[in-house]
Amino acid sequence: MRTHFCGLVDESMIGHTITLCGWADVARNLGGLCFIDLRDHEGIVQVVAEPSDDAGNAAVVAAAAKVGYEDCLRITGVVRARHSVNDKIRTGKVEVLATVIEVMNKAEPLPFHAHENPGEESRLKYRYLDLRRPEMQKMMRTRIKLVQALRRYLDARGFQDIETPILTKATPEGARDFLVPARMSPGEFYALPQSPQLFKQILMVAGFDRYYQIARCFRDEALRADRQLEFTQLDMEFAWVREADVQDEVEAMIRTIFKDVIGVELEASFPRLTYAEAMRRYGSDKPDLRNPLELQDVAELVEGSQFKVFTDWASNPDGRVAALRVPGGAALSRKQIDDLGAHAAKYGAKGLAYIKLGENGEVSSPISKFFDEAAFAALVSAIGLEKGDIAFFGAGTYKVVSDFMGALRLKVGKDLGLARDGWKPLWVTDFPMFEWDDEESRYVALHHPFTAPSVDDIAELKANARIAVSRGYDMVLNGNEIGGGSIRIHRSDMQSAVFQLLGIEAEEAEAKFGFLLDALRYGAPPHGGIAFGIDRIAALMAGTESIRDVIAFPKTTTAQCLMTGAPSPVPDKQLAEVHVSIRPKPDKA
Ligand code: AMO
Ligand code: AMP
Repeated sequence: MRTHFCGLVDESMIGHTITLCGWADVARNLGGLCFIDLRDHEGIVQVVAEPSDDAGNAAVVAAAAKVGYEDCLRITGVVRARHSVNDKIRTGKVEVLATVIEVMNKAEPLPFHAHENPGEESRLKYRYLDLRRPEMQKMMRTRIKLVQALRRYLDARGFQDIETPILTKATPEGARDFLVPARMSPGEFYALPQSPQLFKQILMVAGFDRYYQIARCFRDEALRADRQLEFTQLDMEFAWVREADVQDEVEAMIRTIFKDVIGVELEASFPRLTYAEAMRRYGSDKPDLRNPLELQDVAELVEGSQFKVFTDWASNPDGRVAALRVPGGAALSRKQIDDLGAHAAKYGAKGLAYIKLGENGEVSSPISKFFDEAAFAALVSAIGLEKGDIAFFGAGTYKVVSDFMGALRLKVGKDLGLARDGWKPLWVTDFPMFEWDDEESRYVALHHPFTAPSVDDIAELKANARIAVSRGYDMVLNGNEIGGGSIRIHRSDMQSAVFQLLGIEAEEAEAKFGFLLDALRYGAPPHGGIAFGIDRIAALMAGTESIRDVIAFPKTTTAQCLMTGAPSPVPDKQLAEVHVSIRPKPDKA
């Protein structure tokens, strides 16, 4: 239908007759002289229809005058130099003088125009119009380039792309499963994979060393800006490896793709932090290292005060009292400090004490009254508080204080513009193996139950489960967990022991994971791997906060697809075929 793309018409074509297809991005009728900005996936070019003495030209001008926004057009014309050059577009030095205008499909008045952002709801309902917007085209293109670059890199290095099932058995990654009723086995269900974890491990047992897959994963969990129900991983597994083998390989890959896709040179060697150090210094296991602020532990410095909240937590083995010094923070108003307190409260803070040291050394603090002069001076000096600074204090359980002081660190850094630009990748390692779940009164795996502990001895692991460290690692970039992986358990006795520690009894382990335990018995090599969140990396590369911007058809935060209307009820007949009956909705009493 066409000879060229709109966005690629240039000066070399001046004098040539070309045919273009595209949407009418803008159509202006200046009384006889008509301008149409014709847009396709490559960009925009200006088309002109002007009255002349040519027979037949009147029809062209008449057709141009009737063109409306987003009409689908096929236009033939002659390329000529443009009088007033438009530097803002690639084709700005030329225009096309129309000789034929065909309307391929007239568009009805649109709910919104291709250049406006009408808000999330309309965008998702009319996703095809939203995706037409140049901004969205650009972000989606970044994702496409990312996946191309990954495949190029991995194929060249001998990784083997192998598909794994979507209809499968539960693979626990800490979320709820999506279930699919099995028509041919009444009362039974498939689960959609939360990740290809068990299949990729079994591929290592099967001898397919160095596997990768661009894999769709399904997790029924609460949605946020960086989480979707279905998302895409670059899933990788290697046989005969230790941590450093996996980390070195994928670090080189991440460096290469950042260079290829967005021209960014990441540092030559990513820093490593243990989980314990990350929590201590940043209150987070995915610290944003662009932010220079750090937490400090001050339990010993407040022990002698009269403030019971601080002294109680300072002497509690599960407690933490931490300070966050903010240079220049004395400029924060009372209202701003209260707002920060409200922010910290969302993350569990019961209060947010502070010491403000004015430009002239004047102290303003709700807790100074609890300290004698020497102890207060010692505290101020130990945290390095200078004139013009503020320091915030948090007391509570280690986890809660780390959470809210970590959240405070991010917010203050952002509000005061302290964070530097750029890219700050790092590895976080040495995660705890287990986390105690109060509700369920049992350990849960911090990564997943197939992650190897750092000790090889089962008795030792059992004796020290509370403090056991795993061989897991995460890659973090600018405060986002972009990838997570581990060295796996490759012996069936150790896997059984870990199941037992997680409260999964032998019978249940056999029913759920018997196939894995069997496979580990028949010569499973040491192996490990990692999975990267493609949506998250694409969002970072595209410079957007939400992964929804780099997913063509995402779900809302209430898990709906506004375009298709999914999820939706199904007819009784269809339910009967899959042996499912619906329980009445519980009363909203
Ligand atoms: P994990 O659960 O850490 O590990 O997932 C790996 C990466 O996938 C991304 N991710 C998500 N992205 C969007 N929406 C979600 N709901 C979501 N959940 C996770 C993150 C995360 O770092 N099988 C293991 C990997 C392994 O051990 O090899 C796994 O799935 O970027
Ligand atoms: P109060 O004497 O209760 O008014 O508290 C004195 C100051 O300590 C106030 O600024 C509170 O916000 C703060 N505070 C109270 N509990 C905590 C806590 N758990 N961590 C940090 N600050 C707290």
